[in-house]
Amino acid sequence: MAQTRRQFLQQVGITGGAGVMYSTMSALGLTGVAETPAYAAPSRVELNGRGKHIVILGAGIAGLTSAYELLKAGYKVTLLEARNRPGGRNWTVRGGTVETDLAGNTQRATFSPGQYMNAGPARLPQHHVTLDYCRELGVAIEPFVNQNADAYLYREGTTALSNKPIRHRTAKADVYGYVAEMLAKATDQGALDGQLTGTDKQALIGFLSSFGSIGNKAAGFAYTGADGRRGYEIEPGAGMEGGTTAAPYALSDVFASGVGNYFSFEFGWDQAMMMFQPSGGMDRIPYAFEKAIGQEKIQYGAEVTGLRNTTAGVEVTYRSGTRTRIISADYAICTLPPHLAAKVPSNLPTPIIEALKYARPTNAGKIGIEYGRRWWEEDHRIYGGITNSNLDTVNTWYPSTGFHGKRGTVIGYYNTGANANVYGALTPAARLERALMQGTKIHGDVYGKDVKASFSVNWLGTKYSEGAWVGWPSQTDGIYARLLDATGNIYFAGDHLSHAIAWQHGAMVSARAAVTALHSRVTSR
Ligand code: FAD
Ligand code: ALA
Repeated sequence: MAQTRRQFLQQVGITGGAGVMYSTMSALGLTGVAETPAYAAPSRVELNGRGKHIVILGAGIAGLTSAYELLKAGYKVTLLEARNRPGGRNWTVRGGTVETDLAGNTQRATFSPGQYMNAGPARLPQHHVTLDYCRELGVAIEPFVNQNADAYLYREGTTALSNKPIRHRTAKADVYGYVAEMLAKATDQGALDGQLTGTDKQALIGFLSSFGSIGNKAAGFAYTGADGRRGYEIEPGAGMEGGTTAAPYALSDVFASGVGNYFSFEFGWDQAMMMFQPSGGMDRIPYAFEKAIGQEKIQYGAEVTGLRNTTAGVEVTYRSGTRTRIISADYAICTLPPHLAAKVPSNLPTPIIEALKYARPTNAGKIGIEYGRRWWEEDHRIYGGITNSNLDTVNTWYPSTGFHGKRGTVIGYYNTGANANVYGALTPAARLERALMQGTKIHGDVYGKDVKASFSVNWLGTKYSEGAWVGWPSQTDGIYARLLDATGNIYFAGDHLSHAIAWQHGAMVSARAAVTALHSRVTSR
């Protein structure tokens, strides 16, 4: 199934606001400006030596954030994590990574040293608290290229612009140019006289003239593409070479092709440049948390199999190797994905189990393809960024790091929903074959050459996740809200309990909310 960026975002459910209260911003009366959200970590002074023990289910970002914040006040924490690493969905695949999915496919990554793929999270906007934790934990960051004018748009189909790669800049210049031309003409001809004063009209036309690079009134406000912003057939060069531009694509072809539907992506609250990534892989974040928390407080390979509120606190049963163990504590914070938490035997009341089951998992898939030559830089002059298409691969990501190096790892597909399911149903070898076939349509034969390694992830079939993220049928009908307060001595946290689902920021602010509520309860006694 074809999928546009817009549909992708709608599916993710992240087209709207951030859901974070920027109190400083409100106080200043500013809008559209992100500032650090107000948060006060639990303090030792407030806790005053009350030796409470908190067991945290899951060492993903929410569990790690919870533990890290509670330790600031001197709580005793124990994390139980089913996997053998921290981070949960924050997972960086490197040479040597081995994973068997729920369908029984085992992959052993053979990426060369220094090459990796971020199988889950990969980009961080400036306003996310994820960057605050990077600063606090000493995780180095570098730019992530989320838009690139020289990357491609590719639309398979039957329109005049179909089946050929078109540079983002070219499509954008034509779309903006024609929109500006039409609106300037309509404004000048009086079509908006009911809405605009004469002064407004002049100002609007002035704006459209630079926005679309259109001619003046004498030139009929025509968009000609002659200014070079859409690219050149012969580039400006030495001496007398002033460059040769090609005429724009015809207006009706441009709009029929659908290329205009990609440009709203960069306006997204969470997707606008500048964006960042940790240098060396996204999992630098969980490993930095692990170091700050202390590895001895995290039990890996500990699969939770039971959860109970007791009169004294909580009791958690877990499997560790062949043994079953029970741990008792004063409180628990459960950060397991809700659809998995719902299946853990517990004495949670039925309305809470119903609320956990109310979450609807979404699939996403990615493939990392390591090449022995950075042909996208050498041959296509693309340095980072994303090519979008209506192929089932949807997004091709060029690496944002290692420019001009010998090798590089391209994300050959990053897709969601039905497109992710198409690849998820295949074996890893067949996924690569299909991804190469699709990528060749955009980039030519070079796409299938010099492939050194690949690794693919189908999140719905990944143990201990069984989904990339969840959506809620509603976050306002009262069912979701049942999970926001403690049930007895059990608190819940995770990105699913935020309005920044599918972002580590959501997991972090949710963890902060749980920790704040727990600490306030403990210290008010
Ligand atoms: P999880 O990471 O799911 O943590 C839950 C933990 O519970 C896991 O460690 C799991 O192993 C463990 N667990 C499960 N069952 C058991 C059990 N029975 N016993 C013990 N432990 C158990 N975020 C960004 O910031 N930027 C991005 O660009 C971005 N892109 C993404 C792309 C993809 C494909 C995906 C999948 C996610 C992306 N995210 C992104 C979202 C981000 O990964 C999540 O929001 C965040 O990692 C969620 O953290 P969490 O702790 O809430 O959940
Ligand atoms: N937050 C995820 C991304 O940006 C969905 O890809």
